[in-house]
Amino acid sequence: MQLKPVSIGAGTIDVWQWSLDVPLEALPPLVSALNEAEFARASRFVHEQHRLRFIAGRGRLRAILGSYLDVAANRLAFSYNAFGKPRLAGRGEPPLHFNLSHSGPTAVLAVSDRYQLGIDIERVLPFRENLAEHFFSGAENEALKVVPAQDYLGAFFRCWTRKEAFVKAHGAGLSLPLESFDVTIDPVGEPRLLRLDGVDDAPAQWQFLNLTLPRGYVGAVAALTAGNAVSLNYRGGTLQPARRERRGAWRPAARIERHQALSRASRI
Ligand SMILES: CC(C)(COP(=O)(O)OP(=O)(O)OC[C@H]1O[C@@H](n2cnc3c(N)ncnc32)[C@H](O)[C@@H]1OP(=O)(O)O)[C@@H](O)C(=O)NCCC(=O)NCCS
Repeated sequence: MQLKPVSIGAGTIDVWQWSLDVPLEALPPLVSALNEAEFARASRFVHEQHRLRFIAGRGRLRAILGSYLDVAANRLAFSYNAFGKPRLAGRGEPPLHFNLSHSGPTAVLAVSDRYQLGIDIERVLPFRENLAEHFFSGAENEALKVVPAQDYLGAFFRCWTRKEAFVKAHGAGLSLPLESFDVTIDPVGEPRLLRLDGVDDAPAQWQFLNLTLPRGYVGAVAALTAGNAVSLNYRGGTLQPARRERRGAWRPAARIERHQALSRASRI
């Protein structure tokens, strides 16, 4: 399918946010937006809540992208790079870049008509493991050491989401070593990429932006803007606090396992 060009503009990245907890009566159009593979993926979730959230995420993603392109949600097709990053399939360069992130009941989507990008949100929850040593670079760990104890969680999740947004924008997934680049962790000012191994001008090429999110969430966008200044345009109204969920500890065990498996695979 030939997709029509879209104009968002060089200075703007659109950001959409929505709740993944939708009433049952809102589900039918979301389900009918999915293709067979997505429907099969939805069916494989063991927990109903996870299945419904996947449907609400993928269905709404399709509806939003379709609204830019004037194409029905169920007519869009995606292709995936070797690391699972979705993009619009079609002839030639896709007219839109996008990236989705979800955490608990909240989804966010970043859309640009020109920049390769990534987005990540996380709920700020306490955890026990020494995750910073495992996931962050030496410089990031040094920066975290001087953060006062009461600010540690915020700084940790700022670092995490900036790194994750970069990994997602880059497109190489976790095959991009997490110690091969540094991000800033400060709460003030725009976040920045400080270093990317082997690409001296990467800090000037990449722009990072903080997301304004409901209390208890932290998030970032990373985009390859090649020096163009961009700002975020929140579409669909202000970001609403997500419905309160039972708060447990943050358990990224599955991610650690995935990360360890990938690290092992990349050493073979
Ligand atoms: C899959 C991954 C891209 C993101 O995982 P995540 O943080 O659990 O998930 P998010 O909610 O932010 O993003 C998921 C969405 O990103 C998109 N996505 C999937 N693979 C992607 C990739 N390789 N690159 C970019 N986007 C990707 C999809 O739209 C996906 O949505 P879906 O699951 O509904 O299909 C990957 O980076 C990962 O496994 N990360 C593990 C976390 C980690 O070790 N982080 C270290 C940070 S310091």
